[in-house]
Amino acid sequence: MDADLSLEFLRVVEQAAIACAHTMGQGDGKRSDHAAVEAMRRVLDTVPIDGRIVIGEGERDEAPMLYIGEKVGSPHAMRSTATTGFPQVDIAVDPLEGTNLCSTGAPNAIAVLAASNRDGLLHAPDLYMEKLVVGPSSKDHVSLDAPVHENLKAIAGCLGRRVEDLVIVVLERERHEKLIADIRATGARIRLIGDGDLSAGIAAAVVASGVHAVMGTGGAPEGVITAAAMRCLNGEIFARLVIKTPADEQRLREMGVTDLRKIYRSKDLAPGKRVIFAATGVTDGTLMKGVRFFGDGVRTSSLIMQNEPHYIRFVDSIHVTAPNAKIHF
Ligand code: FBP
Repeated sequence: MDADLSLEFLRVVEQAAIACAHTMGQGDGKRSDHAAVEAMRRVLDTVPIDGRIVIGEGERDEAPMLYIGEKVGSPHAMRSTATTGFPQVDIAVDPLEGTNLCSTGAPNAIAVLAASNRDGLLHAPDLYMEKLVVGPSSKDHVSLDAPVHENLKAIAGCLGRRVEDLVIVVLERERHEKLIADIRATGARIRLIGDGDLSAGIAAAVVASGVHAVMGTGGAPEGVITAAAMRCLNGEIFARLVIKTPADEQRLREMGVTDLRKIYRSKDLAPGKRVIFAATGVTDGTLMKGVRFFGDGVRTSSLIMQNEPHYIRFVDSIHVTAPNAKIHF
């Protein structure tokens, strides 16, 4: 995967975000999701890659598009068997992370994907993961198994502030009752979110975002995409799969997972030599603005990053849709 594909993937997330942003606040999550999936699938087929979806909308029999194992990229769109010369790329997609956020117009819905060389992203099953996401300064000073108060003391120390000054993001779920009580007991501040621990994780790794850690249990697929972002931001995710049933255990064993208690870090979840992360804001968020339609065009705000060569770009795009458009600043 030597070619610079980041701008190609930028087009993919931009178009997915624009498509679903039209449905913002309409209260129809399925429609929002479908719009993002359809646009992402369509644009992926214009990218010159021999691509393979490793994290997508589900297994082949349950998802018509962007299913796990689906081949994407221009050679496949042309039904060509000649993929020689096209980079082999594995892709993890979440066309609309935060379906409910978009359908209610709440902040931090994003269209997002991660890409890597073949086998560079863990084919994570659709299970939950316990997660702890932190920025570069504290990543060597926290542990998924440490008590909450110890982790928060360590994070505060690394950031040179009091525990009371931290903001910890937690998904507002019944399963997090004890976690929330433990954080409150330390005096740290909490931001409870309805959805979207992926975009919160990215914010935790960016200085001055106002988010200092993400704690709690969320989706494993989102965990892999967060890991790809951490590879680019030098932050860290600590994660452990949550096994609830014998069937979950069986599935993991079939996938070759032997240590069911393993704590994964970003290099385990996104081990690729080359990792690309691309996201576009759908609704206004901590790091990116949402999609804005202005009659003559559309304005999007995106984050594109890669580890090699290492760069992080915030991209503000104006997509002109009318001739003689008046461009607003
Ligand atoms: P979407 O499927 O609507 O994008 O939901 C995203 C999300 O909130 C993730 O950010 C999070 O990891 C997961 O769902 C939590 O799952 P649950 O809603 O089952 O607690």
